[in-house]
Amino acid sequence: MLRVAVIGSGPAGLYAAAALARNPDTSVDVLDRLPQPFGLVRYGVAPDHPKIKSISAALQQIVEDPAVRFLGNVEVGSTVALAELHRHYDALLFAYGSAVGRSLGVPGDELPGSFAASDFVSWYCGHPDAPIDSFTLAARGVAVVGVGNVALDVTRMLAKSAAELTHIDLPDHVRRVLANSAVEDIHLIGRRGPLQARFTTKELRELGDVANADILVAAEELERDGPDAGDDIPPVARRNLEVLREWAGREPQGRPRRIHVRFWQRPAEIHGSDRVSALRLEGTRMEAGGVLGVTGETSVIDAEMILASVGYRGLPLPQLPFDPDTGVVPNSDGRVLRDGSVVPGEYVAGWIKRGPTGVIGTNKRDAGETVRALLADAESLPAAPVRDPETLLKELAHRGVTVATWPN
Ligand SMILES: Cc1cc2nc3c(=O)[nH]c(=O)nc-3n(C[C@H](O)[C@H](O)[C@H](O)COP(=O)(O)OP(=O)(O)OC[C@H]3O[C@@H](n4cnc5c(N)ncnc54)[C@H](O)[C@@H]3O)c2cc1C
Ligand SMILES: NC(=O)c1ccc[n+]([C@@H]2O[C@H](COP(=O)([O-])OP(=O)(O)OC[C@H]3O[C@@H](n4cnc5c(N)ncnc54)[C@H](OP(=O)(O)O)[C@@H]3O)[C@@H](O)[C@H]2O)c1
Repeated sequence: MLRVAVIGSGPAGLYAAAALARNPDTSVDVLDRLPQPFGLVRYGVAPDHPKIKSISAALQQIVEDPAVRFLGNVEVGSTVALAELHRHYDALLFAYGSAVGRSLGVPGDELPGSFAASDFVSWYCGHPDAPIDSFTLAARGVAVVGVGNVALDVTRMLAKSAAELTHIDLPDHVRRVLANSAVEDIHLIGRRGPLQARFTTKELRELGDVANADILVAAEELERDGPDAGDDIPPVARRNLEVLREWAGREPQGRPRRIHVRFWQRPAEIHGSDRVSALRLEGTRMEAGGVLGVTGETSVIDAEMILASVGYRGLPLPQLPFDPDTGVVPNSDGRVLRDGSVVPGEYVAGWIKRGPTGVIGTNKRDAGETVRALLADAESLPAAPVRDPETLLKELAHRGVTVATWPN
């Protein structure tokens, strides 16, 4: 019997568990710091995307496999140390994600009212770490910095009316705040051009369908590196540009909210004395070699709330190799590397393996690669010295940890 502990019950961890469970004589414990599984599918995917949320039904089946056991409330690195896990499991597969939002790193970033978009996401998804009163939405102007799919999610959630949110599964406190939101103007800000935006077209189009908001696009900013930018424009960028051009031609309808889509603007400073009051932007342009330069033009937008939607970063776990430059666990095909050499019995999958990009399905292929490496090594792995996870569970109970199972 091969005993494997998977650390993290997001898509990467659970797809890895499913692939391991297909192997006879393998038992898998999936440990998570939270009492409930599914990672960002539960606490990241926007609540108004029920079809994507429903992927948790497929993930649920994995947790229900007799060869797989979910152990919640177990934070590896604090509740339990790596060395303890190595005593009981033949292999550890790390899939603990990289769900910490990056900040802007500009002066004023520390002012109240300036948040990472991930804070807002965690709040509207009801993440246990997000205080109920994190957001009041008393701001009239909001700046969302970054032009990726998370920026689209948070902009849409801010723009929708209470009526548009009626049939969406939301925590009560979130529904109340969204229904009473003072937000009028949402500025979605890209530091490069529309062709470099990271949106996918389906998600971009959806923003234009929000009934509660007019969408305003500065046509001039669309054309700076427009259709003649070269023949090698990726199809998704071309499609995005078509959508943005259609929006630039729209007449405002006097709707309650406005979404201003901006490009070639980067945040320079957040203004405010005791809290955020405005964001100063610097005009940018593409210089030789694809380097982003500044034009010298600046502008200030009124915003009492700023959401930095500029990607995520991974964090190190004690005793586990970590590359601070890339924010991932160094690995070769999923085998953890320390100083370039494979660490026996340690594997990695998902965002903490390859960085914070990719949709849910990307983690299936990724986890598959890691599990193939693990199973190829299985014969040569040194057996864990104690190899009795039940003893570990008793030790955790003794320390006062209430391990959550699922379904419970
Ligand atoms: C806001 C947002 C919205 C998204 N929306 C979509 C979408 O609509 N469609 C789509 O296809 N993709 C979407 N994605 C991308 C998708 O969510 C990711 O590709 C995927 O969740 C990454 O999987 P993961 O398992 O690597 O990490 P995660 O999903 O983050 O799972 C990591 C798990 O590890 C646990 N963990 C962390 N630290 C520890 C520890 N020390 N000990 C134990 N457990 C730990 C966490 O609690 C979590 O359960 C979205 C991403 C974000 C950020
Ligand atoms: N519905 C979905 O399928 C869905 C929903 C949400 C998330 N996701 C996926 O989850 C992953 C993470 O999404 P994400 O939106 O967080 O990240 P992302 O796609 O990497 O986008 C990050 C954005 O932030 C910008 N940025 C980075 N640093 C900046 C700075 N200092 N100042 C200004 N702008 C800055 C980037 O611009 P540059 O390009 O110039 O660096 C980019 O526009 C993606 O793979 C995404 O597709 C999918």
